[in-house]
Amino acid sequence: AATALAQSAIAFRNTITGEVLNFSDALPEGKDTPAVKEFMSTGKNPYNEDVSCLKQGEQIFLSACSGCHGHLAEGKIGPGLNDAYWTYPQNETDEGLFSTIYGGAQASMGPQYQNLQLDEMLKVMAWIRHLFKEAPEKATWLTDAQRKAFKPFGGHEELPENPAGKCQVKK
Ligand code: HEM
Ligand code: CA
Repeated sequence: AATALAQSAIAFRNTITGEVLNFSDALPEGKDTPAVKEFMSTGKNPYNEDVSCLKQGEQIFLSACSGCHGHLAEGKIGPGLNDAYWTYPQNETDEGLFSTIYGGAQASMGPQYQNLQLDEMLKVMAWIRHLFKEAPEKATWLTDAQRKAFKPFGGHEELPENPAGKCQVKK
């Protein structure tokens, strides 16, 4: 049966092959959260710069990505993800970044669709975007209001514990 995701307004494509990504392969959990639904139709990540999502995104990054990309996404055996240079220029858009995470790229950059839930991919993307160290004007994935407030990542940051926002854990 057709799922809501199959009707995504955007044709997400594999970064290397250009094949349309098949979201029926995604992990069943976290597949149709409000944020995933919004992202599938707009290509805008609702978690960007939402402080309630950043710490969760950081935890996912540290367990799934930093071993290859470095603790601050500065690059290690995989390229730095915290600057404005992209091997695949489409990663400058959230649509492209999501597609690379979901479907992988080359070498040891394998597809993450069996590793992370779609909702977790959006959280890790928000954290990667937050680690951006260059001028805010280059942060083209942000809304105008977010870009005005954005500060290039400057190292350690004390994030509040479970603040209000889209990822707040209701107790
Ligand atoms: C490339 C993200 C996990 C190794 C990339 C790129 C992105 C990315 C966006 C393309 C960068 C560009 O266009 O410049 C992530 C995320 C991860 C993750 C978000 C965790 C969910 C890993 C892991 C490894 C790895 C675990 C090693 C086992 C690499 C390598 C490349 C790469 C070697 C270069 C591939 C190529 O140029 O085709 N990654 N990655 N990544 N990543 Fe990852
Ligand atoms: Ca880079």
